[in-house]
Amino acid sequence: MPAKEDFGIRPGEVTVDLPAQPDAGIYFIGRIHTPWKKRADCPKNARGSDSVCTVELDARFVPGLKDVETCSHLVLLYWMDKSPRNLVVQNPGHHGTQFGTFALRSPARPNPIAMSVVKLLGIKGGKLSVVGLDCLDGTPLLDIKPYFPSTDSVPQAVVGWRNKD
Ligand SMILES: C[S@@+](CC[C@H](N)C(=O)[O-])C[C@H]1O[C@@H](n2cnc3c(N)ncnc32)[C@H](O)[C@@H]1O
Repeated sequence: MPAKEDFGIRPGEVTVDLPAQPDAGIYFIGRIHTPWKKRADCPKNARGSDSVCTVELDARFVPGLKDVETCSHLVLLYWMDKSPRNLVVQNPGHHGTQFGTFALRSPARPNPIAMSVVKLLGIKGGKLSVVGLDCLDGTPLLDIKPYFPSTDSVPQAVVGWRNKD
């Protein structure tokens, strides 16, 4: 798939031919509404802004929100629909060096699935108000899960390349 919009291929980046057919299908279960219309305006990651965003679930899935209001934080999975999918080595401008796609949280990946842990402020009908997103307005939503600090938090985790900055 060709790179879209401002996702040009940078020097040193490596692309691959993608498989002819996908192995599975997915359903977009809603859309995420954020203040950001251009990639350059998006926060770099989920802690980069305290803007309140709205997650709008398709009506058919709203019954699935039962009990979600009891959760203080949620894991949101979303589909970075504007990214190229064929990059396996990337050169994120700000580091001046290359990294394998799977060592990065870049939106450019074979399956452009992003995740963020968000704070849930409230739910009205099929709309969730949350803080902790970094995506463009209109980004498709894939899933909502409760964040369990007991199993999801690994405070001693290390990203070695990051410590070399
Ligand atoms: C570095 S990614 C991190 C995403 C997610 N928090 C994660 O860790 O999986 C966030 C960046 O993706 C880009 N982005 C946001 N929405 C996008 C979309 N719908 N399609 C492609 N790229 C997007 C923006 O440049 C944003 O700063």
